[in-house]
Amino acid sequence: MKSVLTNSKPLKGEITVGPDKSISHRGVILSSVADGEGIVKNYLHSEDIFSTINCMNMLGVDIKITPEKLIIKGKGLNGLKEPNQVLDCGNSGTTMRLLSGVLASNKFFSVMSGDSSLNNRPMKRVIEPLKTMGVQVYAREDNYAPIAIQGSEQINGIEYRLPVASAQVKSSLILAGLKANSPSTIIEPAKTRDHTERMLKAMGADINQEGLQIKLNPVDELKPQEFIVPADISSAAFFIVAALIVKGSELKIREVGINSTRAGLINVLLNMGANIKLENEQIIGGEPVADIIVSYSQLKATDISGDIIPTLIDELPILAVAMATAEGESKVTGASELRVKETDRIKSTCSELQKIGVNIKELEDGFTVKGPNKLKGATVESYKDHRIAMSLAIAALIAEGEMLINDSEAVSISFPEFWDILNSAIK
Ligand code: S3P
Repeated sequence: MKSVLTNSKPLKGEITVGPDKSISHRGVILSSVADGEGIVKNYLHSEDIFSTINCMNMLGVDIKITPEKLIIKGKGLNGLKEPNQVLDCGNSGTTMRLLSGVLASNKFFSVMSGDSSLNNRPMKRVIEPLKTMGVQVYAREDNYAPIAIQGSEQINGIEYRLPVASAQVKSSLILAGLKANSPSTIIEPAKTRDHTERMLKAMGADINQEGLQIKLNPVDELKPQEFIVPADISSAAFFIVAALIVKGSELKIREVGINSTRAGLINVLLNMGANIKLENEQIIGGEPVADIIVSYSQLKATDISGDIIPTLIDELPILAVAMATAEGESKVTGASELRVKETDRIKSTCSELQKIGVNIKELEDGFTVKGPNKLKGATVESYKDHRIAMSLAIAALIAEGEMLINDSEAVSISFPEFWDILNSAIK
């Protein structure tokens, strides 16, 4: 699919963006290994989540899908069955990395594979520590899917300092550690999203976070829950930036998850002079949420690096669009993880924004953006990366002339209603 967009009228009114992808994945996986029937309300209906649902189905889990909720007949920590087909993780790194931790402690053979993007993303980061726990794992070049796992019910706990800040790796090891025969300690280099820890705690797991350290004792069972998934701040991010950069905009985005391990974008934009207010703060399903009110703002440049990066890692392409409108030179460093996402997002963000007139330069571990820039329409590539497609669509709203985005259907990986919500917000 090709999408054609051009400079737009303001964004106004109130919108609700799609449910959180990370929490939806975890709701499906954790409920599948709970002892009894669990519910995931307001789950995300997107390709990545259906990849996880299909994999759990193949592992013998019965999941009833209704428009409002998933009803999951948890099999317990020892009840999954050996799949007789390759587990297809599609485009989803979260599915592959989290599942590898589950499969590690189940005494059967399984193989996971995905699309060409996923099968070129690094998996050594989960394979190595899982091998240390006593699991047999095989992969192309010891790093790339397809991955074959011969799980075991006799795995050891692990004491592990993560070399890169990754919630997927952390979660994989936590999931494996649930059934190990000794406690585990996992130490992060910087705080990453903590949904797994929060959800497992609610399910009765013996898991404790102290600063950057997570301590976990094995358990016999997990109590099923009714999880309620809040709106995804990573999806809201596109509309936050849209309202900031399109003159005359004023938009409310309802009940968005603002967990501090995810909300780095808001802090950075506030530093850039953004007019953003949080209202109606509350806790829903164990996660802090708020309405986010955003209006058009004249932004100024900023530098970011260090511990804030993992809290906005998925938002860096859209943050680059905001930086393109800001006065002065912005710099993002310490973000080399962006190179191993669905695409090399440093390269794809820089190359496509350059095509539309942004003064953005690639660094090894980030980029610099000199602004403000006058954006002009052009034909651009999403490279089938959902977040690149949506970032370019928002940039198009302030571009002079038509912008044609190739492979724009990629948005359905995380946010299938993106185009409809965008059209409804432009008034
Ligand atoms: C995710 C963690 C992050 C993020 C991804 C979702 C998760 O990946 O980029 O979109 O749900 O745990 P890493 O763990 O590779 O940083």
